[in-house]
Amino acid sequence: MILGIGTDLCDIRRIEKTLAQFGDRFKFRLFSEYERAKADRRSHPAGSYAQSFAAKEACSKALGTGFRQGVFWRDMVVRNLPTGQPYMEITGGALIKLTALLPAGMEARVDVSQTDEYPMAHAMVIISANPKAPSE
Ligand SMILES: CC(C)(COP(=O)(O)OP(=O)(O)OC[C@H]1O[C@@H](n2cnc3c(N)ncnc32)[C@H](O)[C@@H]1OP(=O)(O)O)[C@@H](O)C(=O)NCCC(=O)NCCS
Repeated sequence: MILGIGTDLCDIRRIEKTLAQFGDRFKFRLFSEYERAKADRRSHPAGSYAQSFAAKEACSKALGTGFRQGVFWRDMVVRNLPTGQPYMEITGGALIKLTALLPAGMEARVDVSQTDEYPMAHAMVIISANPKAPSE
């Protein structure tokens, strides 16, 4: 059952300017250690930061809050499965909001799809609820 969808476009040139102006202050305020490490080992970190930025905005829309109601940037972390497929790890105020959306007996899944084609990065997030696996 789909609970929410969100999408966002981010201009990579805007992220390049923000990185040049604010550097670590920007990185540490918005991004997790995992996201920073991933972006900073790329030849073009701004593209990776822009994709994560877009995914966080898309996720805040899928939650129905934006960056309000206690939902913060670092509550939403884009991670990758060993195959490379991205997914979103949710903590903090975003997790409280996500839990409130969930019907009883269900668990959440947050799928992410991202792309970039300079100068734009795009992300889509789908939040779904699935029956909890029976505990063994
Ligand atoms: C929802 C939010 C993320 C929208 O982001 P935005 O970049 O300002 O705007 P976008 O063009 O990407 O999206 C706007 C659309 O999001 C949708 N939207 C607005 N509030 C929403 C909400 N609570 N839930 C889901 N979608 C929402 C609307 O369709 C809106 O279009 P409209 O204004 O024509 O109705 C915004 O409310 C927010 O919280 N922005 C904070 C951004 C910020 O702090 N930026 C600073 C960067 S350092």
